Amino acid sequence: METWMMNGAFTVLLLLASTGLFFFVVTRGALLMRGLSSDSNSDKSHVYPIYSNMRLIKLVDFQPVISAILLFQYSRLVSKIVSGLKQSDLRDKKVLITSCAFGNVLPRVVNAAVQGGAERVVIADIIRNELLHAKSKLADFSGKVDFIEDNATAMKQTESDVAANVMFFLLHELPHDLKGQALREAGRMLAPGGKLYLAEFHRPELWVLRALSWVYFKVFEPLGLALWDTHDPLDCLENMGGWVCERTTYFFGNFQIITATKQE
Ligand SMILES: C[S@@+](CC[C@H](N)C(=O)[O-])C[C@H]1O[C@@H](n2cnc3c(N)ncnc32)[C@H](O)[C@@H]1O
Repeated sequence: METWMMNGAFTVLLLLASTGLFFFVVTRGALLMRGLSSDSNSDKSHVYPIYSNMRLIKLVDFQPVISAILLFQYSRLVSKIVSGLKQSDLRDKKVLITSCAFGNVLPRVVNAAVQGGAERVVIADIIRNELLHAKSKLADFSGKVDFIEDNATAMKQTESDVAANVMFFLLHELPHDLKGQALREAGRMLAPGGKLYLAEFHRPELWVLRALSWVYFKVFEPLGLALWDTHDPLDCLENMGGWVCERTTYFFGNFQIITATKQE
């Protein structure tokens, strides 16, 4: 092989390895270290530093990077939620976004809700820095959005108060016992007939993708694998009762959007 080709291949490999190492250190690696300290018992102990440290938040939150992490399906997933919101009657109602997320999901969802006539949009996150960062992306909607520090698994919001609740890739990051709790809370806060939009990973149909995905979860996000079987969110919602659910999968089944309507 030519020297320039070897150098090129080596550089690409080095870049991939350092990116992987960076993400490991600011996600799972940090949680492993935290597990060894006394800091491991708070209700925020499962949250990665990339969601709590403002420098890291700003470093990572670039649309191309975030889209690449979701295998360039990000925009399609957000579009499905936005189109669901556009079909709902949100006039004078409240829309909740349970936890912030990187990329343009927040501006797109808030825009759809406001255009649809929602009176207020509430964004809840357990980490204050995430809320501050979200606020900086939503200057166009000031006066319409409330930012509240709250825990998705034990929310301070009142019962049956919101017409729609968007949960974008939160569940796979929660410890297993809290996954069901977050779904129950989502149900408690929705008004009858209200909709929960849940974006998440899903068990891929193609074995190659399944194998790669399995390695990804084992290395970076071990709490996510349970969504494939024991903690499949659709099963959890259906077992809870009181929901009518519809699931759409994307990219050979690697991602899913569940639209769950709370029965009247
Ligand atoms: C929803 S996930 C988003 C992951 C996804 N990779 C992304 O950004 O596109 C990360 C967010 O969830 C928040 N979070 C984690 N646990 C939470 C909890 N129990 N209650 C509320 N927010 C939580 C984190 O603070 C962070 O802002």
